[in-house]
Amino acid sequence: MFRNTLTFTIAIGLIYNSALARELKEFDNNVNYDESKVPHYDLPDPLTTAEGTAVTNAKQWRNIRRPQILSLFANFIYGTVPTPPDPIQQSYQIIKEDKSFLDNKATKLDISIRFKNRKGTAQTHIIVFIPNQIEKPAPAFMMMSFDNPRGSSFQLSNSRKGHLRNGVPLVKLIDNGYGYISVYHGDLIGHNEVSFGKGIHKLFFRDGQSFPKAHEWGVLGANAWTGMRALDYLETNDRIDAKRIAIMGHSKMGKATLWAAAQDERFALAISAQSGCGGAALWRRKFGETMLKLNRFPHWLCINARKFNEREDDLPVDQHMLLSLIAPRPVYVASGTADTWADPHGEFQSAKHAGPVYRLLGKKPLSTTKIPSPNQPLLNGDIGYHLRTGGHSVAPYDWEQFIRFANNHLKK
Ligand code: GCU
Repeated sequence: MFRNTLTFTIAIGLIYNSALARELKEFDNNVNYDESKVPHYDLPDPLTTAEGTAVTNAKQWRNIRRPQILSLFANFIYGTVPTPPDPIQQSYQIIKEDKSFLDNKATKLDISIRFKNRKGTAQTHIIVFIPNQIEKPAPAFMMMSFDNPRGSSFQLSNSRKGHLRNGVPLVKLIDNGYGYISVYHGDLIGHNEVSFGKGIHKLFFRDGQSFPKAHEWGVLGANAWTGMRALDYLETNDRIDAKRIAIMGHSKMGKATLWAAAQDERFALAISAQSGCGGAALWRRKFGETMLKLNRFPHWLCINARKFNEREDDLPVDQHMLLSLIAPRPVYVASGTADTWADPHGEFQSAKHAGPVYRLLGKKPLSTTKIPSPNQPLLNGDIGYHLRTGGHSVAPYDWEQFIRFANNHLKK
């Protein structure tokens, strides 16, 4: 009896799932997955200043509008990085070096980045793979990652040749002339931090302060900051070309990726893999995850962001403006058909509405205004996009497109 019920439940579950062609999430009740229920919305215009003046040239964008938008994202969404009360000393140490990784094709480095001021210390561990056969410093993919560098994720897989155990196609990257850097999310900040006493934040607290202010950085802000500090390290490594770094990340790390690339113009290219709500997806569509749902992680965004729970229309920005901040540098947005929690259409719309800023700066926006069919990547512009069939992951198909897009821009 129990068995029959179970079989029946599984069968119904499968039918339900395939009918909706979407992955189930923990917050599936009270979530809109119906395109016809997306409300009417008006997006804020990246090319109109806060004072209402039209931005008509690159200089106005750079000197007036870009700083305004950056400040809005910092103060209302991800939080500002405060000036520390005492300068932070940053140092690097090679923990391990393996010059014959991947059949001698690559060098693998374990690097510790250490931070210190009178408020305390913190450290993060990054992994760096460098192609051995290079004539000049190599461009590289910097992955903002969930994988702990101290575990087995960065060993070679036994079952998938040329791949790391975490699924990264290392041999493809190395054979295409790229280095690969993995930046761990969990050293300087907890995944769902609620106290802020242990990681990087304490080095930034004013005397007497023990918690970020409402407009100051939380978790994603610290993740983005970690990526920027890893880039500082790369600038000291003469076998990597720090001017040709593609920063990338999936999901929560895709959100951190876009915020890092928006703030730090040293990143040459940015790739968002299914970053969804708080990443590439438009807030105002309220499709899949929303501000309220995202804020169930109370400090991924800054405290000010909570004021926009169920009030997305009041936001002074939307996420197409985050992509605009990356202009004129190339940006790629990847979605999955079944990854509806991340709102693939909202991710595409963001990429589309960043177009006018790219065009103003003489760059090539998306070549279409309609979301492409699954597995028809848009690779030719400075904004790239694909909708892959399938769910929430970084699949081999995604990697292929990321490498093709990077080849168009970082190999010139
Ligand atoms: C949750 C969260 C998403 C996030 C995802 C992930 O689903 O709601 O915003 O992107 O976790 O990081 O995998």
